[in-house]
Amino acid sequence: MCGIVGYTGKALALTPVLEGLHRLEYRGYDSAGIALTLGAGEKLWIEKRAGKLGNLEEILGNSIPQSHSGIGHTRWATHGGPTDSNAHPHLDNEGKLAVIHNGIIENYVELRADLEKRGHTFKSETDTESVAHLLSDARKAHNGDLAAAMREVCAELRGSFTLLAIHSDEPGRIVGARRNSPLVVGVGDGENFLASDVSAFISHTKRALELGQDEIADITASNIIITDLAGKVLPHNEYEISWDASAAERGGFEHFMLKEIFEQPKAISDTLLGRVSGLDESVTKGINLEGIDKVVIIACGTAFHAGLVGKYAIEKWANISVDVEMASEYRYREPSVDNKTLLIPISQSGETMDTLMAMRYAKERGARVFAVCNTNGSTIPRESDAVLYTHAGPEIAVASTKAFETQLIAMYLIGLHLGRVRGTIDAKLAKEIEAELAELPAKVEQILETVEPLRALTREFKDATSMLFLGRHVGFPTALEGALKLKELAYMHAEGFAGGELKHGPIALIEKGTPVVAILPAENSLLAEKMASNIQEVKARGAVVIAIADSPFAAADHLIRIPKTHEFLQPVLAVVPLQVISYEMAVARGNDVDQPRNLAKSVTVE
Ligand code: AGP
Repeated sequence: MCGIVGYTGKALALTPVLEGLHRLEYRGYDSAGIALTLGAGEKLWIEKRAGKLGNLEEILGNSIPQSHSGIGHTRWATHGGPTDSNAHPHLDNEGKLAVIHNGIIENYVELRADLEKRGHTFKSETDTESVAHLLSDARKAHNGDLAAAMREVCAELRGSFTLLAIHSDEPGRIVGARRNSPLVVGVGDGENFLASDVSAFISHTKRALELGQDEIADITASNIIITDLAGKVLPHNEYEISWDASAAERGGFEHFMLKEIFEQPKAISDTLLGRVSGLDESVTKGINLEGIDKVVIIACGTAFHAGLVGKYAIEKWANISVDVEMASEYRYREPSVDNKTLLIPISQSGETMDTLMAMRYAKERGARVFAVCNTNGSTIPRESDAVLYTHAGPEIAVASTKAFETQLIAMYLIGLHLGRVRGTIDAKLAKEIEAELAELPAKVEQILETVEPLRALTREFKDATSMLFLGRHVGFPTALEGALKLKELAYMHAEGFAGGELKHGPIALIEKGTPVVAILPAENSLLAEKMASNIQEVKARGAVVIAIADSPFAAADHLIRIPKTHEFLQPVLAVVPLQVISYEMAVARGNDVDQPRNLAKSVTVE
């Protein structure tokens, strides 16, 4: 999604704004722009271009405007293609007010029609430009008070937005607003920041302020005022950012994704730390887990696959029915929800609009909300009753790897905790699971030692037009995740199937040479033999089988061995080779590994 950065302070603003935009590139974008205030009353300085930040930097050359405040934007096109004129910032007709925006203004058509009637002329196809004209009129009506203007305009807007605005008459002042879309304040020493997420300013300050729904931030180099839409001044909820700047760097790896694959052992152990024998009060104090009669997990994409694995563990250990719902579909079914429903939204970013809106639907109807999230202070945990933070650290690559692993860990921890609260898990089994969980980081480490042979094997399939993934029980969501990874990274057709489902139709896809990745259940699983039969079925029709197994399996054309673990925990290990296969396929095909085409790291539009 779009990247938003605002800077005001002692430095020349162009540098921290550009640096912040680079740090937000992972969010995915297709145009970029910057606006700066110069002296009071002087025209704004503005440059914006379609394409990557490099196009903008080419024009800038070495010139650094003498400005100490400004705003920058990387746009992921929604209304209007990625062109110079549609790039943000957008100006009012006098060229004195600039605005940048992340999200969607749902009522922009009627707003634009009304503005055109009032004599405003438009230069772009975007929904955002209407906001620039609205702010210009409102600022005049409020005797030049940009914050008051922002409050009035936000009250008129429908949809989701993060907005930043500056005016040439007030150099040094930036006003921001947010609704359903992320915005965070960075508190510096003689300088302040506004951004879509903390990675934009983390190298300057680790002090941040949360902004809630429909709140306005009015900042200068030395002052920060936060109000609601009525103008009531609100307290500052300051927090310390737990990441450091290097965490958001590549650390010598060719791509963020490879770095994050290798960070998985640490991400798993950090997420387990202090929680294996139970979730303490600091996690569960906001929620009553007694007397629930069903669990509903809502999520999107990879997070949805983590939820599917969680279903098996929670149902078995807590003896309760678990529904796993695609968040984008959930609320449109108008499902029945009440206060005996435990809703678990899973989200790495904590800003995924589909998941947020589904969560609100259930919460309005009484559900108790226990979020699983990787981003401190983001919207989903802020609106939940309790949150189990995964400690994967910043996940920069669009394709989720370490966040997925830690979401699995969170599922197991919640399953164990609910089993203990409900008295449904056998103490001996709980101890066995705890011991196996503690072994996972070392076992993932072990798999990562086989990465090079696996990358070589993958290159043999570089020109395949399709790849199928088979799994049973918890191996089925693992197969779905493997297929998603390959689609989003190699731009190749890939599909995940439940092994037993193949003979009901999809087996018609198999022809000579079709690569099939088969995730074998744990050796002691009742399903091991059935999966072996499914593999014979595809081999008999010419498939080339790459098996992922914790024990020898002669029928495979290629065998990728993983360590043994409890059958429910196997996805944590089996998914690692799938991540490596998709990574290598992207590299072999020359794709943009960290920012695959058309994708965004956090999808903050529905
Ligand atoms: C996974 O590789 C994708 N980046 C995508 O499916 C992602 O998992 C999904 O958009 C949900 O994002 P969230 O976890 O931030 O809510």
